[in-house]
Amino acid sequence: MFLDTPLYPCDALEPGLGCAVSIKLETANPVRSFKARGTEVIASLLAGGGSRAVVCASAGNLGQALAWSGRGRGLDVTVVASRFAPAAKLGRIRALGATLELVDGDFDMARERAADLARYEGIRLVEDSLDIETCEGAATIGLELVDSKPSFDAVLIALGGGALATGVGHVVKALAPEVEVICVQPLGAPAMTRSFRERRVVTTDSTDTIADGVAGRRPIPAVLDDLLLVADDAVLVQEASIMAGMRMLLDHAGLVVEPSAALGIAAILEDRDRFAGRHVVTIVCGGNVDLAAYHRWVGVAPGHGS
Ligand SMILES: Cc1ncc(COP(=O)(O)O)c(C=O)c1O
Repeated sequence: MFLDTPLYPCDALEPGLGCAVSIKLETANPVRSFKARGTEVIASLLAGGGSRAVVCASAGNLGQALAWSGRGRGLDVTVVASRFAPAAKLGRIRALGATLELVDGDFDMARERAADLARYEGIRLVEDSLDIETCEGAATIGLELVDSKPSFDAVLIALGGGALATGVGHVVKALAPEVEVICVQPLGAPAMTRSFRERRVVTTDSTDTIADGVAGRRPIPAVLDDLLLVADDAVLVQEASIMAGMRMLLDHAGLVVEPSAALGIAAILEDRDRFAGRHVVTIVCGGNVDLAAYHRWVGVAPGHGS
């Protein structure tokens, strides 16, 4: 259900971007993001073992995916999230039967709380990007990409904790090393990109971006080590470009995407020369948005079409 997702050239984007763009579509599944590729592996391993309780911190999409994967296997899933996470994501986590605990802080505070809970209760902690299954799940996207024809020149990957970029990057660098692996983060949440550039962990005190799925302050050292091996570049984009990217994906691809999923288009918009004449794949990695915010970002009044 989460594998073998569509990959197609989106010609309608080409005039506005000046390069050929293919979309790898990760939103047409029950949780509307790629994260279930990894949680399906985690949940099936847990279901086959002794312990049936599991906790994770989530910006919203991992929690939804773990709740979905755990529900069908009788797992007891707890998700810790920020109370500022999009209501649509939090609502779906609850609707899927997980216990949702909210922290009065950001994603990195949710990470601390989830680790504490796992320690007190002696249950499995799923650490996104650090646990190998979360990266392996993303790596299946890489396998599907390198199997594709025609081949492409670069892949643009939203960068948060790094599971998506390291998973896809490992496969691409192993099987199609000529393809450029470019990670994209918002200027308002630059910790991992700065860490990549300085080749050491750099943290920030806060984040300020609409791309809630990638808004971390504290990169995980082991994930940075992996990223340094497999990524060619990491770039930062402005909020206005993210919104313009969301709008382009709506207008020209008919896709409602969350801000993190528009980072690739934003990167092309900000550096057309770099991509001119090339064939670029962008992974449209999530589509969970609060509608009112979405309408504000793309500039379409609710109920009035475009
Ligand atoms: C839609 C979306 N895009 C990108 C990311 C970033 O992925 P990663 O944390 O694996 O780098 C996430 C993470 O939850 C996400 O939900």
